[in-house]
Amino acid sequence: MLRIAVLGVGRIGRMHAENIAAHPRAALAGVFDTYAPAAKEVSEKLGVPNFESVDAVLASGDVDAVLIATSTATHADLIEKAVAAGKPILCEKPIDLSLARVNACATKIAGTPLPIMLGFVRRFDTGHAAVRRAIEDGTIGDLHQVVITSRDPGMAPAAYIEVSGGIFRDMTIHDFDMARFILGEEVTEVSATGSRLVDPALMAKCDDYDTVTVVLTTASGKQAIINNSRRAVYGYDQRVEALGSAGMAVSDNRRLNHLRLSTEAFTDQAAPLMNFFIDRYADAFAAEIGAFVDAVEQGKTPPVTFEDGRQALILADAALRSVREGRVVKTSEVA
Ligand SMILES: NC(=O)c1ccc[n+]([C@@H]2O[C@H](COP(=O)([O-])OP(=O)(O)OC[C@H]3O[C@@H](n4cnc5c(N)ncnc54)[C@H](O)[C@@H]3O)[C@@H](O)[C@H]2O)c1
Repeated sequence: MLRIAVLGVGRIGRMHAENIAAHPRAALAGVFDTYAPAAKEVSEKLGVPNFESVDAVLASGDVDAVLIATSTATHADLIEKAVAAGKPILCEKPIDLSLARVNACATKIAGTPLPIMLGFVRRFDTGHAAVRRAIEDGTIGDLHQVVITSRDPGMAPAAYIEVSGGIFRDMTIHDFDMARFILGEEVTEVSATGSRLVDPALMAKCDDYDTVTVVLTTASGKQAIINNSRRAVYGYDQRVEALGSAGMAVSDNRRLNHLRLSTEAFTDQAAPLMNFFIDRYADAFAAEIGAFVDAVEQGKTPPVTFEDGRQALILADAALRSVREGRVVKTSEVA
C-alpha cells in the first residue's frame, strides 16, 4: 500500500482524497489544508489524520508520497519542499502560471530520482487513450491531423477567472497536453485567435478570452486544432479526433446513458452530456492514482512528467503571444 497524503482539499483535492482512500493499492495517509474547516471535514469523513502543517506532512514517516491539489500559486514551492523531503509527488496542473518559475523549479529539482507526476488527467480517459493507441499500433496509418474540442458547460465565477492566469494557462493547458500526447511529436509553431463573446465585460477586465482556437504544427507538419469555449449551453463537450493516412479515430462525448429516441418530431434525441470534469473524467481520475502508485512502486518514470507540464505551459505562452501579436509564434521564441 502506498501511503499518500493530500495537500489542499478544495474542489479537486477532496475528490483525490476519496479516490486514494478507495484505491486497492493506496492508502490515504492524511490531509492538510491552510483552510482548517476543509481539512477537518475531509479528515473526519474519511477517518484519516488532519496534519497541522505542510512540514508535518513531509516529516511524517507514515507518508510515502504527496498529492498536491492546492491553489496553483503554491505548486512550485510545494514540489521543491517535497523533493527536499524525499517524497514522490503527484501534482495538479499547472505547475505554475509563470514559465520562469517553472524553469527555476526544474533547475532546483534537477537530477532527483523521485517520481514527479503531473495531473493531466485526460491522458487516462479510456477513449482518448484509445485514439493514441490507434496511431501507435498503425490502425489509422500515419497521423496527419488532430482536432480537439473542449468546451466548458458554463462560465466559471468571476473570482476564479480573475486569478486563473487566463484561458490558455488555465483551460487550454489540458488540450495542449492532449495534443502533445496524440501527436507524439513536439510542436514547433503555434497560431491562435481569441475572442470575448461569452462575457465580454469580464474578459476585457481580465484581459482574457472566453472563445479560442489554436493551430499547432510539428516539425514534420502534423497539425492539431484546438477549439475552446468557456460556455457550451448543451454541456461539457469533450472530443478528440485523429485523422491518419489509413483512417480516423474519434473519442466522443460521454452521456449519462446511450438511449437514442426518435419520434415524428425529432431524430436521435439523446441524454445530456456528463455534467463537468469530476463526472466526465471520474474513471480517469481514479486511473491516474493507479498510474502514480505503479510509477512509485515500480520505480519507473510516471506517464505524465514535470517536463510535460513545462511543455504545455510553453504552448500556452506561445498561444497567448500569437493572439496578442497576431502572428504565428515559434515555440523556440518562448521556451
Ligand atoms: N486536473 C483537473 O482537471 C483540474 C480541475 C480543477 C482544478 N485543477 C487544479 O487543482 C488545483 C486546485 O484547484 P481547486 O479547484 O480544487 O481549487 P480550490 O480553491 O477549491 O482548492 C484549493 C485548496 O488548497 C488550499 N490551499 C491553498 N494553499 C495551500 C497551502 N499552501 N497548503 C495547503 N492547502 C492550501 C485552499 O485552502 C483550498 O482549500 C489548481 O491548481 C487547479 O488548476 C485541476
